[in-house]
Amino acid sequence: MRRSQRLSGPVTSTRQGPKNWAVAIRSVRRRCDAAWLLLARCTEQGAGVLRSFMAGNLTRGVARIAVLLGFVLPAALARAAPPSPERPLPEGPRGVAVQEGRRIVSDTARALPDSVGNGLVCTNCHLKGGTASRASPWTGIWGVFPEYRARNGKLITLEERINDCMERSMNGRPLAYDSEAMVAILAYIQWLSEGTATGTSPPGRGFGTIDEKLIPRPERGPVVYAEHCASCHQAQGEGLQGSDGRYAVPPLWGPRSFNVGAGMARTYTAAAFILHNMPLGQPDSLSAQDAVDVAQFITHGSRPAFPRAKEDWPHGGRPVDARID
Ligand code: HEC
Ligand code: HEC
Repeated sequence: MRRSQRLSGPVTSTRQGPKNWAVAIRSVRRRCDAAWLLLARCTEQGAGVLRSFMAGNLTRGVARIAVLLGFVLPAALARAAPPSPERPLPEGPRGVAVQEGRRIVSDTARALPDSVGNGLVCTNCHLKGGTASRASPWTGIWGVFPEYRARNGKLITLEERINDCMERSMNGRPLAYDSEAMVAILAYIQWLSEGTATGTSPPGRGFGTIDEKLIPRPERGPVVYAEHCASCHQAQGEGLQGSDGRYAVPPLWGPRSFNVGAGMARTYTAAAFILHNMPLGQPDSLSAQDAVDVAQFITHGSRPAFPRAKEDWPHGGRPVDARID
């Protein structure tokens, strides 16, 4: 009895006229305040809704809720981080492929000895299994290809993009699009991208920014290298290879490194990667100028050639740091 009385309370009072409606709305509004606050903190629109309500402008408030539900919430959901790469793999053949893809990208030189022409693995540059922001993350890139790339001068597929890294970063040969290895890498990247919106670049895509007006100082490069890099990458940039053939620290130049056509062979691309990721475990510890100095030094060490580099940027716009030799 008591319970039903309580429940019927506001209903009875709202029947009594406009004044009581206002009381009821105020009380509902009070109860919702906490929820609004939460929403409001999330988005500017939410703040707008809150402001409208505070100002007592109900119509504008309701209109803004519509905007919130129609646009902002889906957008916020789309921007949500992809699911954790630690989550369990999918069941069945797809799970097997995702696992194989993960193995290939983190042990590429040994997994694909006929296709890879150096000592690297994909995740030496695409750090943390391709999930690290500003280390060219793959989380979400499934849905951004096909994409126009000026270096290719055309729209390319994700397969073509992967093969660009195979031929340049891995100094190797392209994988057949229907090969088991390519399908496994695609399965892994698609799984990493689950839950991200099609057409939306992952946050921290690429390697982050670097001031391209900084001019490399040739005398500083080797000094920065000796001080901050040589302990791991070794005096001649040759890296540290274990007895199983796998590099514990990858080479930075020499015959086992990426070739001249690789993005990492460009001074400012390498500088951005270095600034935001190296020395490993101490990101953003170098000055941008030191990163540019050491990037110029390591990229211009001897490395495998890539004769087709002169065909890059066929429609012009070749960046100043792009290499031919
Ligand atoms: C020597 C470093 C290096 C290695 C090793 C490497 N990549 Fe890359 N990768 C790059 C660079 C540089 C880019 C261009 C990043 C940018 O757009 O700023 C890139 C871009 C990509 C992209 C496109 C990312 C995007 O946001 O558009 C994919 C996919 C990719 N690599 C896959 C691979 C795969 C698969 C492997 C191993 C077979 C691999 N990469 C090995 C350096 C590397
Ligand atoms: C504590 C050891 C350590 C230090 C110091 C260090 N690195 Fe690295 N570096 C690594 C490891 C390990 C990787 C591969 C990361 C992985 O596979 O997860 C790497 C990857 C790289 C790569 C991409 C892969 C390649 O071989 O081309 C570059 C470029 C690089 N480091 C440059 C530098 C520069 C320049 C410095 C000095 C400013 C530096 N590193 C300092 C350990 C280190």
